[in-house]
Parts: sequence; structure tokens; C-alpha cells
Amino acid sequence: MDFKDRVIFISGASNGIGKQLAVDLAARAALVVGCGRTRDRLVETLKEVRKLSPKSLMIACDIGDREQVQDMMKKVLADFGRIDILINNAGIGMRKPFVDTPLETIEAMIRTNYLGAVYCAQEVLPAMIARGSGHIVNISSGAGIIGTLNMSGYCASKFAMNGWSESLYHELKPLGVNVSLVCPGPVSTQFNREFVDIEPKSPPQLFINAEAVSQAVMRAIEKNQFEVIIPRWLALMCAIKRFTPSLFRVIAQRRFRSYVTKPARVAVSREFPANQ
Ligand SMILES: NC(=O)c1ccc[n+]([C@@H]2O[C@H](COP(=O)([O-])OP(=O)(O)OC[C@H]3O[C@@H](n4cnc5c(N)ncnc54)[C@H](OP(=O)(O)O)[C@@H]3O)[C@@H](O)[C@H]2O)c1
Repeated sequence: MDFKDRVIFISGASNGIGKQLAVDLAARAALVVGCGRTRDRLVETLKEVRKLSPKSLMIACDIGDREQVQDMMKKVLADFGRIDILINNAGIGMRKPFVDTPLETIEAMIRTNYLGAVYCAQEVLPAMIARGSGHIVNISSGAGIIGTLNMSGYCASKFAMNGWSESLYHELKPLGVNVSLVCPGPVSTQFNREFVDIEPKSPPQLFINAEAVSQAVMRAIEKNQFEVIIPRWLALMCAIKRFTPSLFRVIAQRRFRSYVTKPARVAVSREFPANQ
């Protein structure tokens, strides 16, 4: 696919993978429209992107808020006439045992990582289906295939995205709209920085950079690949899990069990029982 003059919407375009994609796609003459919550970062990104693609646009929007998404997409469709490619990239992370995770964190994770993508797709898909063309790219994670300790809310949001993507693939392919699901391993972006000391830590040599993910996303669109798992070691782990799930669970449990600590909430409630 030639990206020239394609209208490409990227959620979470102001940082990390989304920003890299915005710059790379602008360099290939696409009209990039992106969103994020923090205005300063959007302004910075827009400066870079407009040097390469002057008509590009960044919009402040919380994609976990359905009304904000509806207003934003109305504006984009009014200004640009169409969206050719929707890249659902915005996401937030967490690292805490489930019992210690505030419900607000779990709700925010589902709203941003999964429902945000759903809200965007609901606005964009009717026109894509009417035209009989378009591409939806969902940026998920290895955590959408392998459940990992201390990341239950994040894993749940990404497993939801993976199941949703597979359903969409079957529904949309006959209608001319393509779907890609990109599942990266650890990427050296802001996303991971606040969790660097919390298990399970990934060794630095396993990290890839945002450029590698951006290249993989563009390849997935060009070659119309459904599932892309990067890097190779993660693709191998996912294959082992799929072919021998019981064996994989035993191996994973051996690696993870040393990191399991008694959740703080349980420790506290034993010391100060609720009925005293
Ligand atoms: N980094 C990794 O190790 C890794 C691994 C696998 C998958 N992923 C996935 O890759 C995607 C991008 O991650 P990243 O590493 O690039 O993270 P990042 O550097 O933290 O960037 C996240 C982007 O999403 C935006 N965002 C977050 N919440 C939002 C919301 N409610 N509404 C609109 N925009 C929002 C952020 O901007 P504001 O904060 O200003 O809103 C920012 O532009 C995520 O879906 C993540 O789950 C990341």
C-alpha cells in the first residue's frame, strides 16, 4: 500500500510508539491525525509531523470518554472527508497484585486500552464499510496472549482487544475492511519507566524500540497481515503457549512464583481485622 495522501488516525500519537508512527507515516506523505490527552506533548508532536506532512492535525481527546471520541471523529470526518486507516494505539499500564489493584485502575485500563479502541472503531467503520475499503490496526501486546502476574488489569484489557480483533477480522474482511493486530514485547518508551523496579522485569536486552514497532505496523498494513508478534523470542513463546498450553503454564509458574508476595491488603487486614 502507498501511504501517500491516506488519512491515518492514530490514538496516543503524542508519545512513544504512536508518536513514532505519526512521524514515520508523515514521512511517507500520509495525512496524519492523532490524539492524546496532554496538550503540550501534542503541540510538540504536531511540530515534528507538520514538517513532513503540513496538513496533519493533533487533537486533545481522552479516548476513554465516549462523547469526546464522538465529537473528535465528527470533526476529523468533517475536515478530512474520510479515515482510511485507524490505528488504535493509546494505552496505559499497571504493575500490582490483583488484590491490591484499585478498581479505578482496572476500570481505567479497560476504558482506555479496550473501550477507547471500540469507541473509535464505532465512529469510523460505517464509512469504511460503505466505501468497501479501510484498515483497522490494533496495538495490543504480548500481554494479550500470555497472562502475566501483577498485570491482571492490563492483560484483561489486551486479551479483550485480541478477541475483539479476531471477531472484527471475520466480520469485516468480506466487506473490504482489513484488520491487523500487533502484539509487541517490552518497548523502551515512557510506558515502562514507572514500573522499572516492579516484577516481572524484562531484561534490558529483550527491549525493542518504538521504531521497530512502527516499522512492523507499517509492514502489517502494506502486506495486510492479521497477527504480528514482535520480537521473535516473543513470537516463539506465544507459539509454545498455543501448542502446549499446560507445559507453558508449568514453566511460567516456575519463573513467576518467586515474585509472588503477599498482597499488602491481605497483610493489613490480618493485622487489623475489619470487625475490631
Ligand atoms: N511500551 C511497551 O512496553 C509496550 C509493550 C506492548 C504493547 N504496548 C502498547 O503500545 C501502545 C503504546 O504504548 P507506548 O509504549 O507508546 O506508551 P507511551 O509512550 O506511554 O504513549 C502512550 C500514548 O497514549 C496516550 N494516551 C494514554 N491514555 C490515553 C487516553 N485515555 N486518551 C488518549 N490518549 C491516551 C498518551 O498520551 P497522554 O498521556 O498525553 O494522553 C501517549 O500519547 C499501548 O497500547 C501499549 O499498551 C506497549
